[in-house]
Amino acid sequence: MEKTRVAIVGMGTVGTGVARLLLDHGDRLARHAGRVLWLEKAVVRDLSRDRGIDLPSGILTTDLSEVLDHPQIEVVAHLIGGIEPARTIMLQLLESGKDVVTANKALLAQHGEELFDRARSLGRTIAFEASVGGGIPIIANISQCFSANQVVSLRGILNGTSNYIISQMSDRGVEYVTALSRAQQLGYAEADPSMDVDGSDAAQKLAILAHLAFGVRVSWRDIHRQGLEAFELEDIRYAFELGYRIRLLATAQLIDDNLELHVSPTLVRIGRPLAEVRGAYNAITVVGDAVGDMFFHGQGAGQMPTASAVVADMIDTASGRTNITFRRLQLWSDRQCAIEMIPYSKTAGRYYLRFIVADEPGVLSQITGILGWHRISISSIIQHEPSENQDERYVPLVIMTHECTEADAAKAHAEIRKLPSVGMHSVRLRVYEAGH
Ligand code: NAP
Ligand code: HSE
Repeated sequence: MEKTRVAIVGMGTVGTGVARLLLDHGDRLARHAGRVLWLEKAVVRDLSRDRGIDLPSGILTTDLSEVLDHPQIEVVAHLIGGIEPARTIMLQLLESGKDVVTANKALLAQHGEELFDRARSLGRTIAFEASVGGGIPIIANISQCFSANQVVSLRGILNGTSNYIISQMSDRGVEYVTALSRAQQLGYAEADPSMDVDGSDAAQKLAILAHLAFGVRVSWRDIHRQGLEAFELEDIRYAFELGYRIRLLATAQLIDDNLELHVSPTLVRIGRPLAEVRGAYNAITVVGDAVGDMFFHGQGAGQMPTASAVVADMIDTASGRTNITFRRLQLWSDRQCAIEMIPYSKTAGRYYLRFIVADEPGVLSQITGILGWHRISISSIIQHEPSENQDERYVPLVIMTHECTEADAAKAHAEIRKLPSVGMHSVRLRVYEAGH
C-alpha cells in the first residue's frame, strides 16, 4: 500500500492523541485512507517532557526544519495553540509545500484570510474540522451537507470547558475554581483558560461557523460576548426554579437577511436538547431552509475526541478529498457577502434580571415602573424571604421579562441599578425559548 508521510507539530493534549491514533490504529486508518499514514516526525519544545506515549526513536525533535526540509512529509497536523508562533509556523509549513490540518480556532478566527490566501496561492490546503466542536463533524456538515440550504440559524454550546464548569457547579455543587482546575487537568481548557470562560473561545468558533454558514467575514472581537463572569451559583438555582438551565450559548440568526451574532450565558428551558448538554460536551442546532433543524451533539474538547477530528482531516487530506472541498469553498476569499451584522443593541429577546433590593414599601413599583416606561412587559417575578444568615433588610428579586430589545433591556437595567433601594450588584441574562 502507498504511504503518506505525516508529521505533528505540537505534542500537547491533542497532538499526543493524534500520535496515539496514528501509531495504535494504523491499519484501520490505512483502510479508510487507502494508504498508510506514516508518522515521520513530531516537533516539540522540550524533549524531556513526559507525554505519556512511547514514540519510536527518531520521531521526536525540537527542530521544525526537520519537517520543513523533509521532502517526503506531505501532511502536517499543526497543534500549537495561540497566535504566535502558531501563525508563523503555519505559513512556514505551507511555504515548504505541506498540507496543514489544524485545531487552532484562535488562529483561523484572527488570520483566516491571510492563511487561506497563502494556502490557495501555493496550491496547498488547510483542514480545520477540530477547530470547532472538538469531535463533532460540524465543519464538514455545514460546509458540505447543508449546501442545498440557506442556513437560517445556528445555536450552540461551543466551549467544553465552560459547559463542564457550569455542569459541575449546578449538578454537583462544585466550586467554580475547583471545576476550572479539573477542566485544565482533563485537557479541556486553553493554555490561557480566560479565553474559555469569558466567551472568547466560543466567539472565535462562532466567527468560523458564521463564515461557513453565511459567508460573512466577521472579526471574533466584534462579536458581542459575555462569559461565566456574568452570573453566579444563585442564578443557576433561580433559573432551575423557573424551569431553565444556564448555558453559554453562541447564537447566529438570520433576521430579514441580516445576521445576529453573540455569545451569551442564556437561560434555556429544561428538557430542550441544548439545556441537557452536560460536561465537556458541545451541541449545535443548525436550521436550514430546506432540511429544517438538525442537532449535533458530542464531546467538544479533550484529547481523543479532538484527535479523532484531526486524524479524519489527515485522512481526507492524504486521500485528496480536502483538496476538492478546499478549492470549492473559497473560504476567507474576496467573495462579496450581502449580509450585514445586526448591532447587538438591536437584537431582541427575553431577559432574566436579578437585583438585591431593600425590603421596603414601594420598591417593586419603582422597578416595574422603569420596566414599563421602557415598554418591557414582565412575565414573572420571584421574591424570596432572606435566608437565615442574610441581612434581612435586603432580598433577592428575580424578574423574567417578555421579549424586548437589548437596548431597552440595558437602559432599564441601568436605571433600576441607580435606584437608592437597589444594590449595584445585579445580573441580566438572555432567555432562549423557541425550538431546540
Ligand atoms: P497544549 O496541550 O497546550 O499543547 C500545545 C503544544 O504545543 C504543547 O505541547 C507545546 O509544547 C507545543 N508548542 C508550543 N509552541 C511550540 C513550538 N514553537 N514548537 C513546537 N511545539 C510547540 O494544547 P492542546 O490542548 O493540545 O491544543 C492544541 C490546539 O488545539 C490549540 O489551538 C487548541 O485551541 C486546539 N484545541 C484543543 C482542544 C482540547 O480539548 N485540548 C480541542 C479542540 C481544539 P510543550 O509541550 O513543549 O510546551
Ligand atoms: N478549550 C476548548 C474548549 C477546547 O474547552 O472547548 C476545544 O476547542
